[in-house]
Amino acid sequence: MKKYIHWWQPQITPHEYSYVKNVLDSGFINEGDMTEKFERKIALLLHSKYAVATSSGTIALFLSLASLEIGPGDEVIIPDITFIATANAVSLTGANSVLVDIDPESLLVDPKSIEKAITKKTRAIIPVHISGRGANMTVIKKIAQKYHIFIVEDACEAFLSMYHGRFLGTYGTLGCFSFSPNKTITTGQGGMVVTDDERLYWRLKELKDQGRKTGGTGGNDHHNSLGYNFKFTNLQAAVGLGQLHSLSKRLKRQKEIYQIYKTQLSNIGGIKVFSCDVEGGEIPLWTDALVRQRDKLVKYLLQYNIDCRKFWFPIHTQIPYKLSDQRFPQSTRLSPQAVWLPSAFTLTDDEVLLVCHLIKKFLKA
Ligand SMILES: Cc1ncc(COP(=O)(O)O)c(C=O)c1O
Repeated sequence: MKKYIHWWQPQITPHEYSYVKNVLDSGFINEGDMTEKFERKIALLLHSKYAVATSSGTIALFLSLASLEIGPGDEVIIPDITFIATANAVSLTGANSVLVDIDPESLLVDPKSIEKAITKKTRAIIPVHISGRGANMTVIKKIAQKYHIFIVEDACEAFLSMYHGRFLGTYGTLGCFSFSPNKTITTGQGGMVVTDDERLYWRLKELKDQGRKTGGTGGNDHHNSLGYNFKFTNLQAAVGLGQLHSLSKRLKRQKEIYQIYKTQLSNIGGIKVFSCDVEGGEIPLWTDALVRQRDKLVKYLLQYNIDCRKFWFPIHTQIPYKLSDQRFPQSTRLSPQAVWLPSAFTLTDDEVLLVCHLIKKFLKA
């Protein structure tokens, strides 16, 4: 039986067990000290002033938009190629997401399409840094300044990925991260918002905890504003703190895997591996590529127990956001070719080389 080569594989280490045991022993498994410790670590790592842990990356995006008082009647620009969570977070505020086409060179949001989509109702742009590859933040920042709109970054796939000397997620007024199982570090579910704005920091804390700035008794608390329960837990924070012990090893491995693919598969007809500026600090969470015969390749690799992940269908094709293909020529053309190659940091060099060998063999035939 051939070994299964996963496209992704979460890994739990003994550190997590020890942190979790401490939390269990304390009896205080809800949000508390451990969560604050985890938030401070994340803020420090990202060179951000504040970090607020949330129940998921989707909720990190929702709370970010809500903290900016974005709601019914407002428009938020998002790329047509992203995980549907980006659009759903906008919908949760009551605002409308305005889908824009992507840059065919990167599959990331096309700044030219952003500018064309701006109306009087536009309040924010959500650039999405797919697989850790940075959207063009230089131009997007200029557009946001010109039209006085906010940037909320969807950096759910870009933890510690740098773009032009700055961490993705720290370009916008707010930046959002996910710790779901297929990310560099996971807490099962979980998310984080980072910001340098103190007022928004406190607003986020209120919003995620029933309108209270700080945890109260649950009884005679003052609830200054409308809020919800989107808190994190100390148990999740314990897992996150444990995962951080492996961080540098994981980031190194992600870069090594990408480099093997890039070296082995560049100048091979039929496949284009997207470029990641590893020297500049970008972290390829996953290696992604365009393959004209994608579905056939995915099937072929599966015969060898090799698992790839096909890209999302464009948001405009999903029932809640249905629009005509004609408005999105690039995402419509390219999403059926886009694939994530096996990128688990548990893969050995030989396994990645085997995937490359088989891809080459398939493309030659
Ligand atoms: C681009 C993108 N946005 C948003 C999310 C949502 O994060 P979560 O699954 O933690 O809600 C994800 C995560 O999986 C993602 O990949």
